[in-house]
Amino acid sequence: MSDDSAVKRNLILFILALVVLGVAIFVIAQTVTKDTSQVERNKLGEKAMLARIKPVGEVTVGGAAAAGAATAAASGPEVPGACMGCHGSGVLGAPKVGSKDDWTPRVGQGMAALVANAKNGKGNMPAQGAGMDDAQLKAAITAMLDKAGLSAE
Ligand code: HEC
Repeated sequence: MSDDSAVKRNLILFILALVVLGVAIFVIAQTVTKDTSQVERNKLGEKAMLARIKPVGEVTVGGAAAAGAATAAASGPEVPGACMGCHGSGVLGAPKVGSKDDWTPRVGQGMAALVANAKNGKGNMPAQGAGMDDAQLKAAITAMLDKAGLSAE
């Protein structure tokens, strides 16, 4: 009788060990599978991210070439971000990039005066000379005028 119960006990222990082993394998398999799908997801995320940060120019150039008229606005030098902060939207009354009406009254005074006014500040525009030298300011102004189809001597 006592032999019998010893066998039973061993059998129960054996089955318990199998169950524990099974659970362990299940957990490990689960973890490994999760890791793999995580990597897969990251790969997808990377692709999506690369698609999202694809240069806008790529799309614009194709459209501009087809549209023809848009080519002038799409090409040409870029206006620095430091200027776009105000001149992009026209906030504070800044002459807007691409607006011929805003810039036409201002080009007459000449490039030297425009550079000086940008450098020292004018009206609501604080002095821009700290971050850019005259050549950079001139390039920035040239870019803004270019987008409006204008230029200053
Ligand atoms: C904080 C906003 C702001 C930022 C940033 C700014 N501007 Fe201006 N800008 C203005 C405003 C407002 C005016 C209109 C000033 C006026 O005529 O009273 C102006 C006018 C100008 C003019 C015309 C000046 C004239 O004599 O009529 C030029 C040129 C110019 N900005 C260049 C620049 C350049 C280049 C940058 C970047 C380096 C820049 N601005 C950044 C607000 C800004």
